[in-house]
Amino acid sequence: GDVAVLVPAAGAGVRLGPGRPKALRLLAGEPLLVHAVRRLAAAASVHTIVVAAPPAEVEAVRALLAPVAPVTVLPGGAERQASVAAALAAVPAGPEIVLVHDAARALTPPELVESVAAAVRAGHDAVIPVLPVVDTVKEVGAGEVVLGTVDRTALRVVQTPQGFRRAVLTAAHSAAAGDPLTDDAGLVEKQGVPVVCVPGSEYALKVTRPFDLALAEHLLAAGA
Ligand code: CTP
Ligand code: MG
Repeated sequence: GDVAVLVPAAGAGVRLGPGRPKALRLLAGEPLLVHAVRRLAAAASVHTIVVAAPPAEVEAVRALLAPVAPVTVLPGGAERQASVAAALAAVPAGPEIVLVHDAARALTPPELVESVAAAVRAGHDAVIPVLPVVDTVKEVGAGEVVLGTVDRTALRVVQTPQGFRRAVLTAAHSAAAGDPLTDDAGLVEKQGVPVVCVPGSEYALKVTRPFDLALAEHLLAAGA
């Protein structure tokens, strides 16, 4: 394997409602993070996995993941970007392809991990999995008054894993300390590096709200 995967898993999961940090919330009896890491480890290209855990849960996460796959677990930061940067700094010499994958996308198929890695290997510096936008999209102003209808054919919703040539991700993160962007490709875009889209997967949905957790339970029961 020539791929390292960084797994930001240090978030609280405020939108999921009261409870443990989101990565440790249960899906069919197992934490979301366990589902996510099991699928990453099943991808043949993956050599190294580094997890950024909630700082108070580092030991618990180590114990939880030890039977699943060989992983490095370290404390994450207050913002997602800080968690990714901490994990990136812990990648040993070797892998030249680095993927960043949200623990919250617990049912992401190993095939998607492989297709993103393959696109980086084929020469793209930055690769993101995307889906088309299915709903009509409106731009709305003050008082919830519609300003216009957006051309959705030019829009994509973005998932993880996002894949990068290692030096490209390292440069983007050193340039971007403190930037509140929600994804890593956004940092790379700011460096003027082209970002290429590949087809995403419905199974890579991000568990954000209780509805998503219920949907993920159903998908898992149906064989995901
Ligand atoms: N994340 C992280 N460190 C943070 C914030 C987020 O590692 N300081 C991770 C989350 O654990 C998650 C991924 O980034 O796997 C995507 O973030 P999100 O879905 O927003 O998760 P949370 O921040 O936990 O959720 P919320 O915003 O609802 O609190
Ligand atoms: Mg968040």
